[in-house]
Amino acid sequence: TALPRDLFSAIADLKRELNAVILAHYYQDPDIQDIADYLGDSLGLSQQAAQTDADVIVFAGVHFMAETAKILNPDKLVLLPDLNAGCSLADSCPPDEFAKFKAKYPDHLVISYINCTADIKAMSDIICTSANAVKIVNQIPADQPIIFAPDRNLGKYVIEQTGRDMVLWQGSCMVHETFSEKKMVQLKIQYPDAEVIAHPECEEVVLRHADYIGSTTALLNYCQKSDRQSFIVVTEPGIIHQMQKAAPDKQFIPAPPLNQCACNECPHMRLNTLEKLYLAMKTKTPEITLPESTRIAALRPIQKMLAMSV
Ligand code: 13P
Ligand code: SF4
Repeated sequence: TALPRDLFSAIADLKRELNAVILAHYYQDPDIQDIADYLGDSLGLSQQAAQTDADVIVFAGVHFMAETAKILNPDKLVLLPDLNAGCSLADSCPPDEFAKFKAKYPDHLVISYINCTADIKAMSDIICTSANAVKIVNQIPADQPIIFAPDRNLGKYVIEQTGRDMVLWQGSCMVHETFSEKKMVQLKIQYPDAEVIAHPECEEVVLRHADYIGSTTALLNYCQKSDRQSFIVVTEPGIIHQMQKAAPDKQFIPAPPLNQCACNECPHMRLNTLEKLYLAMKTKTPEITLPESTRIAALRPIQKMLAMSV
């Protein structure tokens, strides 16, 4: 399929034609962020997916996000511009190994971070995101033991915030484990007035230097409200596009990776491009599909999360 000269207006035309909505995460390419109907963190994106009346959801994010939208909307067409846009964190929790792990703790409630596959969601009792993990864990009776999967870093952070002793699956995000504590401390010395804002998928050694920890939306809101002028941003740098738009006079410094070979851009998120997004809408592929039995089992813990987040 030949590409039109003006992708922005061609996408707008297709959106009308298909009655489509474009949902995008902050780690997407800035061009994609600019054409999205809704931009948000994982919680906001799943809330939008739960309430949209569009016929087609174009999901500019990674597979588990689009899959969550499909679980919530079995009758809608859910498109992901590049089906290979996976997630290292979701990949770090294979379903067969998780089933064995879970069997070792039969009395435990399973709370899973939304960054996991539908098969893991289907084995979970409640889903959470970085925006509501602490709130959800705090709603569980104190004598109820909990397994938290798959992110060990978010898990450790939630344990610290709630005082709950949870069993953690040892998964992690390749992007958020690429930050260097030493380089961050050097940056703090270089910019003594800057506040450090970090995502809870980062390791504890990095989080201990943070002035504020939150989901991507929480970080964006925080830097707008803060009276500081500069921020060291310790998450995927795609979000800086929105921070700069929301607060053009403030300075946003991306935290450096471990070494020159490493990169803090998420290689999965960045597989989506404006061109692929256009082609997905034009050809109505690639589409997210999943077995109905898995979908039904995965829907229950997502609905619990949505109910517990209000
Ligand atoms: P949130 O946007 O929900 O904070 O998640 C960050 C992330 O890593 C998504 O993959
Ligand atoms: Fe997964 Fe990490 Fe990329 Fe988010 S940033 S999609 S958690 S690999």
